[in-house]
Amino acid sequence: MIGISLVPCGYLYNSYMSKAKVVLLENINEIAVQTFQQHNMLDVSMYKFSIEDAPSEVFNADILGIRSRSKITPEVLSKFKKLSCIGCFCIGTDQVSLQSAKMLGIPVFNAPFSNTRSVAELVIAEIITLFRKLHTVNLQMHKGIWSKNADGCNEIKNKTLGIIGYGNIGAQVGIIAEALGMNVIYYDVENKLPFGSNRQVYLLDDLLRESHVVTLHIPQDENTTNIINKNTLNKMKKGAFLINASRGNVVDIEALAEALESKHIAGAAIDVFPQEPANNNEEFISPLRKFENVLLTPHIGGSTQEAQVNIAAEVSSKLASYHLTGSTAMSVNYPNLSLQKPKNSCIRIAHSHKNIPGMLQAINAEMAKYGINIQSQVLSTDDDVGYVVLDVSTKSLPEKLEQSLSAIQGTISVRIL
Ligand SMILES: NC(=O)c1ccc[n+]([C@@H]2O[C@H](COP(=O)([O-])OP(=O)(O)OC[C@H]3O[C@@H](n4cnc5c(N)ncnc54)[C@H](O)[C@@H]3O)[C@@H](O)[C@H]2O)c1
Repeated sequence: MIGISLVPCGYLYNSYMSKAKVVLLENINEIAVQTFQQHNMLDVSMYKFSIEDAPSEVFNADILGIRSRSKITPEVLSKFKKLSCIGCFCIGTDQVSLQSAKMLGIPVFNAPFSNTRSVAELVIAEIITLFRKLHTVNLQMHKGIWSKNADGCNEIKNKTLGIIGYGNIGAQVGIIAEALGMNVIYYDVENKLPFGSNRQVYLLDDLLRESHVVTLHIPQDENTTNIINKNTLNKMKKGAFLINASRGNVVDIEALAEALESKHIAGAAIDVFPQEPANNNEEFISPLRKFENVLLTPHIGGSTQEAQVNIAAEVSSKLASYHLTGSTAMSVNYPNLSLQKPKNSCIRIAHSHKNIPGMLQAINAEMAKYGINIQSQVLSTDDDVGYVVLDVSTKSLPEKLEQSLSAIQGTISVRIL
């Protein structure tokens, strides 16, 4: 454990906030601690273990940070005494029971874009590697084979890159590839604004037919499973390359192996697989292992030091912001409200409740009962939960207000900021 004790800096909202106990598990990058410090949140404990091995003091946390090993089930959530929010210091949030957290008034945050650049750079490196056969000559050299020739080696300039899924990563790949002289086309289920001279095509078949190299940057869902299959591989140019650094099941691996065997596809770079080893001690099994013209990587698209730092900074900022302002912007399970700090003359009250009729009326009636003037009120809801944040113009609140607001039927949580 790393105990943190530092000189306060930045702004301090009130003494309650400075007492927030932050617990970070699974060896999260130090930059997270520095981010909390900048917000005067100084009680930060860092541990290497995951929640399964956590001692009882961890369950006193106000704020919990985890990576992907800690499974936050409803049972685990019930052990916390005063947890206000959870940060997943990673991309995925499958490890958290998001619905249970929501119904307990606990927003969950993650870092969806922190490794975008890392994945894009890997893909660019793979494009050049495939076009220049770097992976195969490297293997030969290690075996002592000197094979100096230009057979099958090409520049990427003026070649066509086809991007399937022009979201955060796809668009980054497109911008960099264009800067390197490639013609970039993309296919997306949504209309996407092109960057630079990137061009959207409206049929997947057109992209497959035109591209010298196809790269996938799509999510995993029922429409994308095996989107690259025997049929779509056949539609690709003879001698084209395939890259997948998105999700393992978007490519039918057996069909790809056949297309490689027949030499219809000249090579591939694959970073994600339908079945991946659970840890570094398990063997990687795949029909692609036998192809020297396939560049295989162990799901490292987003694995860079920079991405780790970005993740730590992004998630800790979101947690600090929620704690200090009530902002739920970009929360994955909570109605989103993007909030700045309240005016000095105001106290902020954040009320989470079941999304049932009459809640706002009941809250406002309570405020009126105590003669409190509401300066501003913002509400966001989803199917289950309503989240309302009120700024009230007063220096102090009546002692019993929090209790009265908590007693309103349907209330999930009340926070006075
Ligand atoms: N290899 C790694 O380590 C690594 C790291 C980060 C992300 N990823 C994966 O990369 C993928 C892309 O991430 P992102 O941040 O760019 O996501 P994103 O949500 O920003 O972009 C996905 C894009 O795919 C489009 N899309 C959805 N269904 C489609 C379909 N059927 N056909 C065409 N387009 C479709 C969406 O409209 C969107 O524009 C995700 O699957 C993510 O899990 C992998």
